[in-house]
Amino acid sequence: MKHLIDPMDLTTEEISEILDLADDIILNKEKYSQICQGKKLATLFFEPSTRTRLSFEAAMMELGGNVLGFSSADSSSASKGESVRDTVRVVECYADIIAMRHPKEGAPLLASLNVDIPIINAGDGGHNHPTQTLTDLLTIRREVGRLDHFTIGFCGDLKFGRTVHSLIKALSRYEGIKIVLISPNELKVPDYIKTDILDKGNVEYIEVKSLENSMPELDVLYMTRVQRERFFNEADYVRLKDTYILDMNKLQNAKEELAILHPLPRVNEISVKVDDDKRAKYFVQALYGKYVRMALIMKLLGLEA
Ligand code: NCD
Repeated sequence: MKHLIDPMDLTTEEISEILDLADDIILNKEKYSQICQGKKLATLFFEPSTRTRLSFEAAMMELGGNVLGFSSADSSSASKGESVRDTVRVVECYADIIAMRHPKEGAPLLASLNVDIPIINAGDGGHNHPTQTLTDLLTIRREVGRLDHFTIGFCGDLKFGRTVHSLIKALSRYEGIKIVLISPNELKVPDYIKTDILDKGNVEYIEVKSLENSMPELDVLYMTRVQRERFFNEADYVRLKDTYILDMNKLQNAKEELAILHPLPRVNEISVKVDDDKRAKYFVQALYGKYVRMALIMKLLGLEA
């Protein structure tokens, strides 16, 4: 494993190793606090982010390393017309590892073909978001107790939501996973997810519209925001944005042990009252994102404690 571009770049064994390492980091923070001394992480974010960029930066700092980078295309030479290829070839002179987010699908892959240092895809358009997937898997493993034999509902924008696409890919390789895809017609998962991932992996799935009707059977509920920035017109966004709002009422017939995940940012799709329910795991999920990125940075740099 040199780069992490697509969740399928990782075998399930490699995923287990990263999650095991993250678990150990959570227990023994001190042991890892100087591992990346003298190393630099560059965060190249051509698209906005709070959690992903800051959790990468916090992860590198907690490993004793340093960070540099930019947080918008406007503040980089991309605004002068520089290509991604040239940008990463230059950044390679200054850093040991790169985390890149880009609005264009495939930009981090292109970058990885042009440099010798590890590139991590921190989200490319509506395509993939493998480090959010590692975050989600760590959250499920810690909060549900296993990565197999459970039913997960994905609810909201399944068309443009890259975190959904990446997590479905990763889960398609575990035993006994049942997937309930909950969305309006306009926001269904792309066909390639069904043909190339779900059908090929023999994953049991259904597509439905009602969150309420699906609720009783779910062990995990993965809520998502409607991805405004990827819509072609504002009217469609306004019409669809509030299709699903999870509130305490809708949780009435949910399992006691349900785990509610959300990659965040939340807009309106989960009522703040749900935050105090013990089933709400989305803030601890954001915390786990930092530890899993610490583990990933160590693996990609070939470092051991
Ligand atoms: C997600 C993303 O960027 O795709 N956010 C994140 O990284 N936690 C989800 C989103 O923006 O809706």
